[in-house]
Amino acid sequence: MTQEPEGDDGTLAVPTPQRRTSKLGIVGAGAVGSTMAYAALMRGAARTVALLDVNRQKVEAEVLDLSHGIQFMSMAEVVGSDDVSVLADCDVVVFTAGAKQRPGQSRLDLAEATISLVRKVLPGIVEVAPNAVYVMVTNPVDVVTYASLQISGLPPAQLFGSGTVLDSSRLRYLIARHTGVAVQNVHAYVAGEHGDSELPLWSSASIGAVPLLEWPGVGGHGPLTSEVREAIAHEVVESAYRIIEGKGATNYAIALAGSRIIEAVLKDEQRILPVSSLLDGYLGISDVCLSVPTVVGASGVAERLEVPMSSDELLGLRRSAEAVRTVARRFGF
Ligand code: LAC
Repeated sequence: MTQEPEGDDGTLAVPTPQRRTSKLGIVGAGAVGSTMAYAALMRGAARTVALLDVNRQKVEAEVLDLSHGIQFMSMAEVVGSDDVSVLADCDVVVFTAGAKQRPGQSRLDLAEATISLVRKVLPGIVEVAPNAVYVMVTNPVDVVTYASLQISGLPPAQLFGSGTVLDSSRLRYLIARHTGVAVQNVHAYVAGEHGDSELPLWSSASIGAVPLLEWPGVGGHGPLTSEVREAIAHEVVESAYRIIEGKGATNYAIALAGSRIIEAVLKDEQRILPVSSLLDGYLGISDVCLSVPTVVGASGVAERLEVPMSSDELLGLRRSAEAVRTVARRFGF
């Protein structure tokens, strides 16, 4: 806000606010991208939401449909195009475009198609939005994030992936369902690959102020025995496969997870989220993008928290790093 010079009568003129409205860009107006736009608008995350998609008719229709609902949300403007200039000067760009995971297909199977799309599209976006924080969502998100850092040349703080924010939400939901407490009081993270080699960090999890591994069970709900924890961990990994089998894609929870990340950046929340970023000596792990609890704010990825882990968890994280690195190497990264 600039302070206007004194008026003739010596009083300070009313300062004219220099408002910088926030602009969110979403690449891909498919199920995930359009639902993420909807989630971000519903949460008042950004003043302008810009959608980019190769299918001009589709993106224009999504813009219209979203715009017709603005009366019921916080004030915002929705724009869209098949031209990359629509993303000019974005503060955050979320990349959701890419091959869809088919029933039974693993996320890592999508690597080749997605990397070639990123190679084609990302440099042009960075040219029009060089200062945006980039959040990769497209799968396999860890490999895609690692490749995108090299393709874009952006610093590791400025480009990261949605990682296991969604998986951690699934884990918390299942723990809450088993224990009968509100999911908001469950604090647990999934670390590693957003995929089959991910692992819940049970040893640092808590329910309210009680360490999860010491949870006694309340209100007729049992404790979290090793068998229960194993079943929950398996259900987290299988969640996406089950949903894709039933409805062809996942979109609501990933869109809400993305919206949470968008808010952490646009509102500079310094929020701790398990996003996927380039590890450089994290518990001895380097040169791979993986999810660990990380502070996220206006400049993107800040600190990665070295969470206390059991020897099994550390082994699992190292195995996950190797699984992701193997695929990245296969495509020359
Ligand atoms: C899922 C997709 C986003 O886990 O990978 O639903």
